[in-house]
Amino acid sequence: MKSRSKLERYGLAVICCGVALAVAWPINGPASCFLLAVMVSSLFGGLGPGLLAVALSAVAYERFFVWRATPPTDEPVAVLRFAAFLVATLVVTGLIEMKRRAEESHARAEEALRQSQADLERISRLTTLAELTASLAHEVNQPIAAAVTDASTCLRWLMRDPLDVEEARQAASRVVTDATRASDIINRIRSLFKKGIPQRELVDVNEVIREMVVLLRGEATRHSMLVRTELAADIPEVMGDRVQLQQVLMNLMINSIDAMRNVEGTRELAVKSQRGENQHLVVSVSDTGLGLPREQTDQIFNAFFTTKPHGTGMGLRISRSIVESHGGRLWAADNFPRGAIFHLTLPSKVDVDE
Ligand SMILES: Nc1ncnc2c1ncn2[C@@H]1O[C@H](COP(=O)(O)OP(=O)(O)OP(=O)(O)O)[C@@H](O)[C@H]1O
Ligand SMILES: [Mg+2]
Repeated sequence: MKSRSKLERYGLAVICCGVALAVAWPINGPASCFLLAVMVSSLFGGLGPGLLAVALSAVAYERFFVWRATPPTDEPVAVLRFAAFLVATLVVTGLIEMKRRAEESHARAEEALRQSQADLERISRLTTLAELTASLAHEVNQPIAAAVTDASTCLRWLMRDPLDVEEARQAASRVVTDATRASDIINRIRSLFKKGIPQRELVDVNEVIREMVVLLRGEATRHSMLVRTELAADIPEVMGDRVQLQQVLMNLMINSIDAMRNVEGTRELAVKSQRGENQHLVVSVSDTGLGLPREQTDQIFNAFFTTKPHGTGMGLRISRSIVESHGGRLWAADNFPRGAIFHLTLPSKVDVDE
């Protein structure tokens, strides 16, 4: 209704009344024709055009019909009939207006609800972002501060007389390590937020797993690790971002490889896919490594939590946020008899949030 101009809406009322008059005249049935004209004008024009139609109909009714069927002696009946007509048209206009307002306020309430949900989501995302930024500043500051110290140590060794090249070289190489670490941290954060518009395509998760196994098999074999896959043939395809899903599997498999580097005995990395409940598919990545860090198991998904000398602690944090943006879940458990197992579920076909 709002999309139509005022002129169109009032014009509609005038046209409806004209048509009603033209139809009512030969059949001498003004009440139903004008009532219809008023209803159409109110419904499609709004309150103003509805009232205009009431006024025009009343004038036409009074001019052309009230006296037509009534002998002059029956004046009170004619007046009553006219009054009844007027009341009926006004009530119709009023009812239609009431219904429209109710619908509009319902639509407004729904819009407000949708808006506040969106706000809430944005706020919670911003909170995570704020937390991340605070810890990011801390995390990046450490290697940079170390790099500054090492660089000045390096300068001191270079200015010594006689100059000590070996000490200077060691300090310079520590600068390289520190600066690389700072840049690693920043790169991983960028990959978390650089999501851009996630691509949505049908992804065969088994294929993604096979690709990642091919990529990492060399590294695993070098450390005498066995890589085993158990992929169910009947798993549904997933609507998702292929590159992001590759990233998740890569993160999990590299973590498993890391965890097995220094363990004795069997070193086996197993990746399984199977059909889960409710149209979900379940992927699990298990290893026979060190196992999840005791007492800190619930922290492994936190940003920057790492037990590795050169880890950024962002791998699992990024992986979880990718899986959740696909409408799935990612969690960890102890593997039996040793090591860790990570499970992720993905819905086969849903609308994924952007
Ligand atoms: N398969 C696993 N077995 C045992 N511990 C694990 C395993 N995967 C993750 N963890 C623990 O969770 C921590 C966080 O893992 P995450 O992938 O987030 O970061 P990271 O591997 O330490 O660093 P990055 O991913 O940047 O190399 C690890 O440091 C490790 O303590
Ligand atoms: Mg990792």
